[in-house]
Amino acid sequence: MTKEPKRYLVTSALPYANGPLHIGHIAGAYLPADIYVRYLRAKGKDVAFICGSDEHGAAITLRAKKENKHPKEIVDYYHLLMGGAFKDFGISFDEYYRTSSEEHRQMSSDIFLKLNSKGVFDKQTSRQYYDEEQNQFLADRYIMGTCPNCGNDKAYGDQCEKCGTALSPLDLIDPKSTISGSKPVLKETSHWYLPMSHHQSWIGDFIQNGSLNGKFHHDPKEWKAHVVGQCMSWIDGGLHSRAMTRDLDWGVPVPLEDAEGKVLYVWLDAPIGYITNTKVWADKNGKNWEDYWKSEDCQLIHFIGKDNIVFHCIIFPIILKAHGEFILPSNVPANEFMNLEGDKISTSRNWAVWLHEYLQEFPGKQDEMRYVLGSIMPEQKDSEFTWVDFKDRVNNELADILGNFVNRVFVLTQKYYEGKAPGTFDALPVDEQIMAAVTDAFQTTGSKIEQFRFREALAEAMNIARLGNKYLTETEPWKLLKSEPNRTATILHNCLNIVATLSVAIRPFLPFTSAKLQQGLNIEDQPWSDDASNVIKKEHVIGNLPILFEKITDEIVAAQMAKLSASKEDINTSAAEPLKENIAFDEFQKMDIRVGIIKAAEKIAKTKKLLKLLVDTGVDERTIVSGIAEFYEPEHCIGKKVILLANLAPREIKGVMSQGMILMAENNSGELSFISPEKDFLAGATVR
Ligand code: MF3
Ligand code: ZN
Repeated sequence: MTKEPKRYLVTSALPYANGPLHIGHIAGAYLPADIYVRYLRAKGKDVAFICGSDEHGAAITLRAKKENKHPKEIVDYYHLLMGGAFKDFGISFDEYYRTSSEEHRQMSSDIFLKLNSKGVFDKQTSRQYYDEEQNQFLADRYIMGTCPNCGNDKAYGDQCEKCGTALSPLDLIDPKSTISGSKPVLKETSHWYLPMSHHQSWIGDFIQNGSLNGKFHHDPKEWKAHVVGQCMSWIDGGLHSRAMTRDLDWGVPVPLEDAEGKVLYVWLDAPIGYITNTKVWADKNGKNWEDYWKSEDCQLIHFIGKDNIVFHCIIFPIILKAHGEFILPSNVPANEFMNLEGDKISTSRNWAVWLHEYLQEFPGKQDEMRYVLGSIMPEQKDSEFTWVDFKDRVNNELADILGNFVNRVFVLTQKYYEGKAPGTFDALPVDEQIMAAVTDAFQTTGSKIEQFRFREALAEAMNIARLGNKYLTETEPWKLLKSEPNRTATILHNCLNIVATLSVAIRPFLPFTSAKLQQGLNIEDQPWSDDASNVIKKEHVIGNLPILFEKITDEIVAAQMAKLSASKEDINTSAAEPLKENIAFDEFQKMDIRVGIIKAAEKIAKTKKLLKLLVDTGVDERTIVSGIAEFYEPEHCIGKKVILLANLAPREIKGVMSQGMILMAENNSGELSFISPEKDFLAGATVR
C-alpha cells in the first residue's frame, strides 16, 4: 500500500437469508474481517464494517415456493437468526441491514437509473423458458433436463452437476420446470445486459497490474494468488454479456416504465447492499457515507469466500467504475473452503456445525471456536475442521499455554505481593531479551494482520504466552523469593506487562478473553501500541482473574460426532425418490447386466468427475467412462467387483469411447457407491 488511507470500508459477503450460518461461513468471510477490523479500530483508524442479509434471488423464492410461504417470511426469520448469531459470536459489524428494505430499493434504483442513463446496459430480447402453469419465466435453476454431455437426467439450466459441464437452459434435452414439473415453452422476453467485453481491457489491467486509468491503484502482489488466478482465467476466457435483470416477482423492481414483472438480478442488487447499508449506518451516526464510497482517501476491502470472487473482482468493479463516482476495492482477500470431518460442508445434507447451535451448546465459549477457526481458516487452500482437533487446540494451546501462563502470573502476584505490581529493579540480559522478544512478537502479529495472514498472526500472538511461560520456567522466581527478592519482583512485574501485551495482541482474535485479561489486570482497553508492555506501573493493583478456559472432554467430542453421524443417517433413510412408471418384462430383459472386475482406472484430464476404467466383463476387456471420481480414487477402484450395463450403445465422453455403464447406488445427497455381488462370483456372471 502506498500512503496511509484516512478511512477504511470493510465488507463481509452478505449471506443469503435462507438458512442458518455454519462455521464454514464464519471461517471464510466473517471472522477474518472481524479480526482485521478490530485491529484497525485498536490502532485508532476510522473504519466502517458493513454487512447485512442478502434477501433476494432464486434460492430464496424457490425455497418459499416449496414451503408454501412468502419469501418475506423466510428472510424475516433468518435475518433475525443470523444477525443474532453474528452478534453473540462477537462479529462486530457496524451495520447489519437488509436488501429487502426501502432504503435499499431506493439506492439500487438510483444506481441502476444512473447506469442506464449513461448507456452502460444493452437492452436485448431473447427466448427463454416459461412455465405456463405458473405463469412465470424460469431462471436457470428452475429448469431441469437431460445433460447433452453425459445423459444425467437431473441437470440444471446452468450446469450438470454430474459431469460438471456448464450449460444454458436451451442445451437441456427434455427440459422440465422444477416448480410445476410441466414442460416449459420458449417465450420472448427482454432484459438489460451488461456487455462486459467492453470492459475487458481495463479490468484485466486492474487485476493483473493493479492499475486504474493508467495510474497505480494497488500492488497486485498484495492480492492472494488464487484470487488473481481465478480472475485472470475468467478474463482470458473472454468476458460475455450478462443479464442484469430477471423476470421474477421478488426483488428490486426495475425502475423503468417498460419493465413490468422484472427485477434487478440478485448479483446486481446484493453488492449494492454494501452501499445501502453504509448509508444506513452513516445516517444514524452523523457520518457521510460518501466519505467512504466516493473518496480516494478510503480503502475498500471485501472479505468473501472463493465462490464469490468474480462477482467482487470483476462484475461489481465494472458496475462501480461505469457509474463513475465510486472507488474500487484495494483488496479482496477471499478464502477457500473449509471441510468438516472429511466431507464438504453442506446445508442440504445437514453436514455442518451451525453457529447458533454452537452458541447454545457452548455458552461463553465464543473464543474457543474463534481460536480454532482462526488457526485453521482456509487462507491459501482448503482446510478441515474436526472435533478432535478442536479439543486438542483448546486444551493444549488455549488452556495449557495461554491460560496457564496468565494463571501463574496472577497466582504468584497475589501470593507474594497481595496483588500489587512489585516494580522492576536492575534488569538482567534475560529480562531485556524476553521483553524485546515479546515486543517483536507483538509487532509481527500486527504486520501479519495487515497482510491478511491471520493464521500466522494468531500464532505470533500466542507466542507471547509461550515466551512468558518460558521466562517463568527459566528464571523460576519462586525459588528466589528469599535469596534475591528483587529478582522475583522484577520477573513478576515483567510478567504482568507481558500479560498486558498479550491482552492487546489477542484482542482482534479473542475479544472475550482479552476483556477478561484486562478486567483481571484492572486496566482500560489499550490501543494497539508497543506501550502495552509498559502499562502496569509499580504498585498497580490487579483484580481477580475470571475463569479463562475449561478443558474440552472426550464426551463433548463424542456427543458432537454422534450428532453429525445422526444427520448422515437421516440422509440415508429419509425421502427416497418416488417410484418410476412400470415397464414390461421384455424391456427389462433387453438389458445385459453382469458382474465385471475393474482392471485399471485413471482420471480423465480436465474433468473433476470422470474416471476411465478398464473392465473385465467375462467376455472381453473394455473401456467404460464413469462419473465417480469424486467418490472413488482410481487406486481404490482396481480389483473391485461391480455391476455393469454391458449393452448400452457406445458413446464418446470427453474424447473417450465408453462401452457400457457401471451401475451405482446413489443416496439423497448424491453420493455414489459401487454395487457388488454378495458372493464371490466371477466376472461375467449375469444379473437378472
Ligand atoms: N449471498 C451471496 C452468497 O451467499 C453473497 C452475496 S455478497 C454480495 O453467496 F456482494 F452480494 F453482497
Ligand atoms: Zn452431464
